[in-house]
Amino acid sequence: GTLVTMDPKRSIFMQDLWIKDHVIHKIGKNLILSLDRQNSTYTCIDATGCWGLPGFIQTHVHLCQTLFRNHAEDLELLDWLQKKIWPFEAKLTPAALFLSASLGIAELLKSATTTILDMGTLHHTDELFQSAKISGIRYFGGKAMMDRGESFPLIEDTQASLDETQRLIETWHQKENGRLRYALAPRFALSCSQKLLKACVDLSKKHALIIHTHASENKLECKIVHEQTGKDTIHYLNDLGLCQTKSSFAHGVWLKEDEIQILSDTQTKLTHCPSSNLKLASGIADIPKWLQANICVSLGADGAPCNNTLNIFQEMRLAALIQKPLYGARALSAQTCVEMATLYGAKALGMEQTLGSLESGKLADVVVIQQNELSQLPNIPDDPYTALVYATSPHCVKDVIVHGKILVHQYKLCSLDEKKLISQMRGLSQV
Ligand code: GUN
Ligand code: ZN
Repeated sequence: GTLVTMDPKRSIFMQDLWIKDHVIHKIGKNLILSLDRQNSTYTCIDATGCWGLPGFIQTHVHLCQTLFRNHAEDLELLDWLQKKIWPFEAKLTPAALFLSASLGIAELLKSATTTILDMGTLHHTDELFQSAKISGIRYFGGKAMMDRGESFPLIEDTQASLDETQRLIETWHQKENGRLRYALAPRFALSCSQKLLKACVDLSKKHALIIHTHASENKLECKIVHEQTGKDTIHYLNDLGLCQTKSSFAHGVWLKEDEIQILSDTQTKLTHCPSSNLKLASGIADIPKWLQANICVSLGADGAPCNNTLNIFQEMRLAALIQKPLYGARALSAQTCVEMATLYGAKALGMEQTLGSLESGKLADVVVIQQNELSQLPNIPDDPYTALVYATSPHCVKDVIVHGKILVHQYKLCSLDEKKLISQMRGLSQV
């Protein structure tokens, strides 16, 4: 196949890719000839007529919300949370949360996303990790932390939140050969006390964990943060130390110039969620300005009830399109969008040495995508980015490998039972 490597030279070439254990062992011509066919066992994936790419990385999703897809329409953020999402999350049983995660992961894998940074809900977080463990996806995630605000009954005592977080770190961080990692997830400024946020900074430094939170998503949210704290959101979070450790903030729609400067100076990472920002009427984030400020920008679908898909092709396409009426037709190139969904996602997770491109020695997270579907043709051989961003959809995803394991083969999920998931969901819909 044609390897769209995303290596430093952005090499695109027709070669073989050899995976050994969970690592990309070699990339080169005719590698299959060097295998001893009698004495070795191997699986050969034919990628003729396909692109091979590093698996896509989404740095802001909520697997716990997949069950709420299509059930929280036409609301802005704070109403959406208070009227729908928080009451729904409060009712999730362990079994429902496991199903929600499995449904989300099935969709993500089938659409070529191989790594996620996930924010859970308050309870039953083991179910999320369990589902990630079984499905084979590369998972960074943690329980949402909420110890103040108007989210009753979805609220918890500060110390209880920290104790549960500590237990989850011990149980899940760096498990499954490093495929599962814990990320601290204080939900957003309005639902966290200063004590909780400071404790997250301490935990992040102590265990080298990412802090994953929402910031500056909605205008009213920003106004309330300012009323309560006397500061704009990024100043507030920065003063508590959140920009002085490994942090990844989602949305950033309402960032002011001086806030962008703080994020740039502190190398705090931002996740752009174009579908969610449009659907919740939050606004349009200023991605060209962020990139110009040298901020690492990656992509995320956010949760199913504010999108309503988890499809990375949709996010790349929208990311490019929505800037054009504002900044002109060359505002954000298709190649930059693919970079945000691969290289910059890896960087946001501190994994740029091991993920985000096809290079020997990197972890074997590889996707094989059909390039000759009717609706993709004619594509340009040396510019696959255009067809990938504007003319490719999940049904073009043929094979998906994570950590050297084949999770989607010939368009079919291997690690999860798609038919069973659908029938379980149908059963729920009728209740
Ligand atoms: N802000 C706080 N919680 C959430 C959430 O669940 N989704 C989004 N989009 N924003 C949030
Ligand atoms: Zn979110």
